[in-house]
Amino acid sequence: MKRVDHLFTGKAKTVYTTDDPDKLILHFRNDTSAFDGEKIEKLDRKGMTNNKFNAFIMQKLEAAGVDTHFERVLSDEESVVKNLDMLPIECVVRNVAAGSICKRLGVEEGLDLDPPVFEFFLKNDPLHDPMINDYHIRAFGWATDAEMQAMQEATFKVNEVLKALFLDAGIILVDFKLEFGRYGDAILLGDEFTPDGCRLWDANTREKLDKDRFRRDMGGVVEAYEEVAHRLGVEIG
Ligand code: TMP
Ligand code: ASP
Repeated sequence: MKRVDHLFTGKAKTVYTTDDPDKLILHFRNDTSAFDGEKIEKLDRKGMTNNKFNAFIMQKLEAAGVDTHFERVLSDEESVVKNLDMLPIECVVRNVAAGSICKRLGVEEGLDLDPPVFEFFLKNDPLHDPMINDYHIRAFGWATDAEMQAMQEATFKVNEVLKALFLDAGIILVDFKLEFGRYGDAILLGDEFTPDGCRLWDANTREKLDKDRFRRDMGGVVEAYEEVAHRLGVEIG
C-alpha cells in the first residue's frame, strides 16, 4: 500500500489517502508539540517510537474487545488505519490529578481520583481545547447521545485495560486522551495512544515518563518513551 494524496498535516502526524478509499496512512513525524502548537521541536526517533508504541497498544486494545481504526504497521514511521469520520471531541480520563485539572480546581498534583474523572474537550487549538460537557455536544450537534455513550464506555474500558497493562510494567497511568470517529454505524477509537497523549509515572519513584518532560523542558523525552516501550515489551528498532 502506498501514499496517494496528502490529506492533512497535524502537529505530530501527517495523514495520506491510499489506493483504497477505506484506508489511510498515518505518518508519525519526529515533531513534538505542546501548548496547542505554541512549542514545537523535532526529536530524533520519536516518530518511529510512537508508531510502534501506538501499534502495540492498539493491538492490546483490540484483543481486549475495544474497536479501533488500527490495521497494521507499514514502515518504521507509518501505519495503515481505517478511514474514519473523526468527531471534534477529546475524551480524557484521569486516575491521578495532574495538568489542567490542578490549575482549574486548585488541587495538588498526585491526588488519587477514585472513581476516575471523565472529561470532554473540544478539539480546537485556537480556542486551546476548552472543556465541554454533554449539553454543549448535543446543542452544537458534535455527536449524538448514543455516540457520547459509546465514547465514554470505550474510554473507561481502555482505562481498565491499560491501567493494568502499565502497572504490570511498574508504571502508573495518570491520565490520557482519546479521539473517536464514525465508521459506518460504529464508533471506533482513532488517532493514537502514545506517551504524547497521556501521563505515565514510574510507580516507585513517580518520575515522569511522558510528554510532560517536553512541556517542562526536563530533557530525556524520547529516552523516557523508549523506557516505557522497553518495559512493556514493545519492539521498536
Ligand atoms: P490536560 O491535563 O492538559 O487537560 O490533559 C489531560 C491528558 O490528556 C494529558 O495526558 C494530555 C492529554 N491531552 C492531549 O494529549 N491533548 C489535548 O489536546 C488535551 C486537552 C489533553
Ligand atoms: N494540548 C496538548 C498539550 O499541551 C496537545 C498539544 O497542544 O499538542 O500538549
